[in-house]
Amino acid sequence: MKVGFIQLAPVLGDTQSTIRKIDELLPGVSDADLIVLPELCNSGYNFVSKDQAWETSESIEDSQFVRYIESLCSKYQMHIVSGLNERDGDKLYNTSFLAGPNSYIGKYRKIHLFVNEKDYFEPGDAGLPVFDIGHCKIGMLICFDWLFPEVWRVLALKGADLICHPSNLVIPGLCQRAVPTHAVCNRVFVITANRTGTESNLTFTGLSTIASPKAEVILQASATQEEARLVEIDISLARDKMITRRNHALDDRRPEEYSLITET
Ligand code: ACM
Repeated sequence: MKVGFIQLAPVLGDTQSTIRKIDELLPGVSDADLIVLPELCNSGYNFVSKDQAWETSESIEDSQFVRYIESLCSKYQMHIVSGLNERDGDKLYNTSFLAGPNSYIGKYRKIHLFVNEKDYFEPGDAGLPVFDIGHCKIGMLICFDWLFPEVWRVLALKGADLICHPSNLVIPGLCQRAVPTHAVCNRVFVITANRTGTESNLTFTGLSTIASPKAEVILQASATQEEARLVEIDISLARDKMITRRNHALDDRRPEEYSLITET
């Protein structure tokens, strides 16, 4: 299976310019089976106001950006995961959606909101779904969700082989160093598709990363360049949960000792 990411700087409030960038970069990874794009790819990230967050949002049904991604999936016979500033009624969600060759498939809404996102978005209420895309089963997390081992584990327990992680990371290197550990603890592949560029006081840190179930960084982008990259992976590695002949990464858990984790 060929998987990759497009690392770019979405243009705040200008979906058409972002689409032009994706159009330029995508031919470099056109034979991928799955590509991941950054968080809030249709809108940009660092809104100056609630009004700007609202004006740059789209409902999935009426989204120009979702239709564009669907058209790429159909043209290149691939799956794409992308961040989306999603409008639903009078609420906004920081969403990641999955589309495939036959159109939109499903979404995840970011559960753990970061700093000013709490002023604009509702916390995710769509659970932690896992989708079977034929080659493998995928789950989605978004950026700051990375800090919470619980959500990685839930996706692994639901059978995800690969976790797609659209991001707009700003703390230099921290998540990129942590991702291989989440990958090995759950024996899954992880694709963190980060962005580059600066929006007022925020500089995004690039270094989009693909990690293997053995905690190897098998592909990493530069810190500052817009780039599309792909790598071939053997998904069977994520299905072998044996750490030793007698230790299974999931079956050896002792949930009866962990009840504190689910207390609110
Ligand atoms: C982040 O969650 N965008 C850092």
